[in-house]
Amino acid sequence: MDKIPLLGTGLNGLIGSKFVADFSDKYDFDNLDVRSAMRPVDITNEKQVRSVLSASSAEFVVHMAAYTDVTGAWQQTDDVNGPCYAVNVKGTQNLVNVCAETGKHLIYLSTAYVFDGEKEDLYTETDKTNPIEWYGKTKALAEEVIQKSNIDWTILRIDQPFRNDIFEKVDTLHRIIEGIKSSKLYPQFNDHHFGPTYINDFVKIIDFVIRQKMTGIYHASSGESWTDFEFAKFINENFGLNFDLKEGSLAKYLETSNRPYQKNTALNIEKIKGSLDFELKSIKEAIKETIL
Ligand SMILES: NC(=O)c1ccc[n+]([C@@H]2O[C@H](COP(=O)([O-])OP(=O)(O)OC[C@H]3O[C@@H](n4cnc5c(N)ncnc54)[C@H](OP(=O)(O)O)[C@@H]3O)[C@@H](O)[C@H]2O)c1
Repeated sequence: MDKIPLLGTGLNGLIGSKFVADFSDKYDFDNLDVRSAMRPVDITNEKQVRSVLSASSAEFVVHMAAYTDVTGAWQQTDDVNGPCYAVNVKGTQNLVNVCAETGKHLIYLSTAYVFDGEKEDLYTETDKTNPIEWYGKTKALAEEVIQKSNIDWTILRIDQPFRNDIFEKVDTLHRIIEGIKSSKLYPQFNDHHFGPTYINDFVKIIDFVIRQKMTGIYHASSGESWTDFEFAKFINENFGLNFDLKEGSLAKYLETSNRPYQKNTALNIEKIKGSLDFELKSIKEAIKETIL
């Protein structure tokens, strides 16, 4: 079978590289890669984006490139000339503009950090966005740019992703494992809730969205809610690491820090889960098949 041409941004990243690894038999990936020696493409440069998209027969662009350093972003708060705004907002605007010219469908990877974290329950797609820090704000602004456009678009929101193998950028799960192994793991918050995303399953959701040509906003994590402490405790026990894990409190931490922090970013995934033609693994199953 001929491979399907597929454009992407950020395909060298934590999530993108797993998508490429698992689907290279099906898709002929063309990455808008800023570090490519042959054909560097910086998404903040609209001309460069245009030259690649207009020459491609791909129907979809999976847009994963982003400024993802949340602390670095916070240091750029309100700086519309900084790299976080440039990549996340202007870069996305460029892709939207060129998708409009070339008739391509944009699939955008977004984050639960578009919410303020004050909700007691899981966030649904109809909940109002209200980001409390600059990374989340720029991702929410990018979502707005996409939603205001006339292109075909899909927004997939995820939270705290991890994969079952080791990657150069340390993910949520491997950060805990490293902390335990080096005996430097801080007390883990028992009042901070998040919705881990198993990247091995999430890349199948991206493929599903392409197969079904789905449009709209979807939450696409595991649909589960964990505290940092519960997550670290399960990892500690599952791998028999015998670390003396301590409980910490986000509320206490926030008393001494002026850095904003969402208390809850767990996502409700019922909207997409009902239509999937494969089973998502539970987070416990995902941790069990993870390589240390
Ligand atoms: N990781 C998370 O915790 C998380 C959570 C929720 C949502 N997301 C979203 O998921 C997506 C993927 O995240 P990730 O963790 O896989 O990201 P990542 O590992 O940080 O990779 C980001 C990618 O973007 C590329 N990039 C950055 N600036 C660029 C530019 N100007 N032009 C072209 N490419 C550029 C980077 O290229 P280089 O490798 O060459 O630098 C890198 O490949 C992002 O949109 C992120 O916002 C991530």
